[in-house]
Amino acid sequence: MIKVKVEGITKVFLSQNGNNGNGCVEALGGINLEIRTCEFLSIVGLSGCGKSTFLEILGGLIKLSCGSIYIDEKQVFGPNQDRGIVFQGYALFPWRTVTENIVYGLEEKGVPRKTRTEICKQYISLVGLSGFENHYPYQLSGGMKQRVAIARALAYDPDILLMDEPFAALDAQTRDTLQGEVLRIWEET
Ligand SMILES: Nc1ncnc2c1ncn2[C@@H]1O[C@H](COP(=O)(O)OP(=O)(O)OP(=O)(O)O)[C@@H](O)[C@H]1O
Ligand SMILES: [Mg+2]
Repeated sequence: MIKVKVEGITKVFLSQNGNNGNGCVEALGGINLEIRTCEFLSIVGLSGCGKSTFLEILGGLIKLSCGSIYIDEKQVFGPNQDRGIVFQGYALFPWRTVTENIVYGLEEKGVPRKTRTEICKQYISLVGLSGFENHYPYQLSGGMKQRVAIARALAYDPDILLMDEPFAALDAQTRDTLQGEVLRIWEET
């Protein structure tokens, strides 16, 4: 079954210093793609080729210039609780602790406090941040922030999980472990 269908999406950014002389950057041009239910798909490409732009459009965070996106055969026009995102730059809430960041999506979903705490504990342990529950993002290293962002997305358990270079800021050992864990969670769920 097709979960996500992308039809001819194009994204043109308007800017005063574009690379083609007319103040425009075409980040994506005529992308067609079908992603099946339960599929794990990786997008690989050179820096600047449009990967983040594509994910942000799929997440409904930026508008496309033309084309359409369908999820479960319904056209989508913006963000929704069915999609979770791990951003390239972590995007944690600076005023929330590690725990408070991880439970954010669960609060939005209306998950009861006791269940939130249990789920949070499980993912904090998974990403190796036990003992840092009450730290704020500014007190964490880049890799630790990245792990909070991964835990937040996994704890939320969205229908579609979009991840933008989620392991980029991690050391080689942690990256190996978390890559394996994400695959394991995907296989199990
Ligand atoms: N808000 C914006 N305004 C103008 N141009 C933008 C904007 N965001 C991205 N771009 C341009 O769109 C193109 C694609 O950028 P994008 O961030 O999607 O690349 P990427 O494949 O994710 O690169 P990287 O691997 O370095 O993260 C680049 O040429 C970039 O300059
Ligand atoms: Mg990017």
